[in-house]
Amino acid sequence: MPYDNLENVKTENRDGVLVVTIDRPKVLNALNAQTVREIGRVFDEARDDASVRAVVLTGGGEKAFVAGADINELAKMDPISGKRTSEIGQDILLKIERFPKIVIAAVNGFALGGGCEIALACHIRIASEKAQLGLPEVTLGIIPGYGGTQRLARLVGKGKALEIICTADRVPAAEAERIGLVNKVVPPDQLMSTAEEMARKIASRGPVAVRCAIEAVMNGSEMPFEEGQFLEATLFGLLCSTEDMKEGMNAFLEKRAANFKGK
Ligand code: COA
Repeated sequence: MPYDNLENVKTENRDGVLVVTIDRPKVLNALNAQTVREIGRVFDEARDDASVRAVVLTGGGEKAFVAGADINELAKMDPISGKRTSEIGQDILLKIERFPKIVIAAVNGFALGGGCEIALACHIRIASEKAQLGLPEVTLGIIPGYGGTQRLARLVGKGKALEIICTADRVPAAEAERIGLVNKVVPPDQLMSTAEEMARKIASRGPVAVRCAIEAVMNGSEMPFEEGQFLEATLFGLLCSTEDMKEGMNAFLEKRAANFKGK
């Protein structure tokens, strides 16, 4: 059964929105190897789960989204296991970034190290006013290893990324919003409802169109502009062959709500 036998990750399908909670609150949801594997499994299973139309990813407990990789495990690493750990994390975060349905991070507290990197891999980030984000790896004598050096620079620019990575300072939610590190900041008690509402709104749009929009933005932004535009035109053309396209256009012309089938 999907989502069975998970120890450190909880899932709940709330009317099409899969709420995924990374849940080791005693250690502020720190990512040990098992937790990273479980996150990967959930995304693999949710990908083919037709009842899931969007995902909201959050952290268990009051204090943290995820306070980073588990330092107890990190401390034992040698060059070979360190490289492998980094590769496994990178693969799983790429799974999140390339997920065909929208993934919203609901950043409920500390999002540090690997936690910040997970948030960076999500398509949209909504933060609670008490959230703090940061990449403190240099305080441990390492650098971010789950794609953080690459994604942060692409999101906020190289100068800000180097400031955040090299000072290891935590970025409070309001500043994170100012520099584009998070999309929106809300009071803590409105975090999940805001994230779920946005997820539900996106899930009500044409699913194939949303999937193509994710591909165009996430893949296209890694390409030279003209190739990105070529991808955009190809996806645009492809969408013109879908039932959803006909339904969306007809619904507008008939002044009614569209009933998308995802086909
Ligand atoms: N790995 C393993 N354990 C962690 C952890 C991590 N990344 N982050 C927190 N914990 C554990 C703490 O060791 C502590 O365990 P204990 O109760 O057995 O002592 C527990 O979680 C609570 O953390 P604590 O430090 O007491 O909470 P705090 O509110 O004083 O501080 C943080 C919160 C997030 C500032 C602090 O825990 C911290 O700096 N964590 C490490 C962040 C980090 O460097 N992450 C990047 C790793 S690459």
